[in-house]
Amino acid sequence: MKISRSMISSIEEGKREVKDRLISLVCFVFGANEHWIKTGKGTMFDTPKNERLERIIYKFKNWIKETYPYSSDYNKFLDRAAEEKAKNTRPELTGLVKNIDAYDVLFLGYPNWWYSAPMALFSFLEQHDLSGKTVILFCTHGTGGLARSVRDINAAIPNSTIIENVFDVFRDDVASAQPNVKKWLTNL
Ligand SMILES: Cc1cc2nc3c(=O)[nH]c(=O)nc-3n(C[C@H](O)[C@H](O)[C@H](O)COP(=O)(O)O)c2cc1C
Repeated sequence: MKISRSMISSIEEGKREVKDRLISLVCFVFGANEHWIKTGKGTMFDTPKNERLERIIYKFKNWIKETYPYSSDYNKFLDRAAEEKAKNTRPELTGLVKNIDAYDVLFLGYPNWWYSAPMALFSFLEQHDLSGKTVILFCTHGTGGLARSVRDINAAIPNSTIIENVFDVFRDDVASAQPNVKKWLTNL
């Protein structure tokens, strides 16, 4: 939510007042109940869990976004991705995450592209300082599994800890993957 650690500690220590703007943001992102935040009364959340999760995912899914979108023509799309991989290109991203320091654990999801991850993921990994952070990976694929992706990601961020338990799912199984995702999350 672009809130620095020092701001959180000064709120916790009572040195800083929590502004209404911040409360509204917490309510929007996490679906928290404003009345509960302000008074401690009532229920903590006022939106269903799934909706809250969707909001969070929506918020973070734009972290890795290429400036120049891929063609909707699938063959052109495949060609561009193949060329980017062959040339080891780092596609330009629309922006960098300014408060990456605020996160200790990152969940990074990606599709298997040409036996590895999309080059835009490497733009992201190389353009942020992820040293000391824990990185949890999950991947969709078209039967090729993780292929070289985890090895390549490890090489790009040698100073981060990548959790060995990586979740992968075949694209046609994504819609029914929820039980396996839950099992994976529980065993992390
Ligand atoms: C450029 C490109 C390269 C791909 N290369 C592979 C591959 O090497 N191995 C594989 O199993 N699937 C490959 N796929 C299939 C994708 O992994 C699959 O479509 C994706 O994980 C499903 O997510 P989506 O619905 O967001 O496309 C490739 C897809 C694209 C677009």
